[in-house]
Amino acid sequence: MNNHPNHIAIIMDGNGRWAEAQGKNRTYGHEKGSEVVRSITTYCAHHPEVDRLTLYAFSTENWKRPKLEVEFLMKLLQKYLTKELPTYLEGNIRFQPIGDLSSFSASLQKTIAELKEATHHCTGLIQSLALNYGGRDEIIRAAAALQAAQTPISLELIAQTLDCATDVDLLIRTGGDHRLSNFLLWQTAYAELFFTNTLWPEFTPDELEKIIQKFKKVERRFGGLH
Ligand code: IPE
Ligand code: IPE
Ligand code: MG
Repeated sequence: MNNHPNHIAIIMDGNGRWAEAQGKNRTYGHEKGSEVVRSITTYCAHHPEVDRLTLYAFSTENWKRPKLEVEFLMKLLQKYLTKELPTYLEGNIRFQPIGDLSSFSASLQKTIAELKEATHHCTGLIQSLALNYGGRDEIIRAAAALQAAQTPISLELIAQTLDCATDVDLLIRTGGDHRLSNFLLWQTAYAELFFTNTLWPEFTPDELEKIIQKFKKVERRFGGLH
């Protein structure tokens, strides 16, 4: 068996619990979590087998959180996307956001569009941040677009119309819970699922590599026989 982890998707969970365990504010966990986004992205950019990394950063349900936490996350996102441009360029990483960006402030939308444009020429890893992303919302938006275009429905056409057209090979969730929380519902149809109790701020490239090695030994049958 030698599966290639072409598309890795990660539900980055556990920032708040990590911070609270140290008597700190949840926002401290998000701050630390953003550093882990950088280190895992850079690791994947140098990984010969990983073409695409999709990270769940803010769900369509996360607006339910206290206003102050949501505001902090928006500011953190703005800061991250502005200051990490060199990381993207040095790593030849192309930034491709997914999700319904129209709910964000004009200035955050501008920052997102600028990073996308500035890394458009990069030919290495494609890093997607899922921002105001929900799997159901993505499917509804795709269905509406196909309906508006009066196009006949096919599997290929639906896949291409989604924000993310590429199936996930390996899905990882940190933080100990065993659920998808509305992440990439269509694209994970045949993904291998890995769950770790490690909280996102403590997740390391070393643990990621161990998961990749386990993934490579799995027999993927896709409904057929071995
Ligand atoms: C994940 O960590 C980050 C986001 C959802 C933005 P959480 O904030 O969900 O942390 P926990 O799960 O409450 O510990
Ligand atoms: C999933 O984590 C969303 C992100 C990681 C962005 P949540 O913490 O929001 O998920 P639930 O509420 O535990 O399902
Ligand atoms: Mg959580």
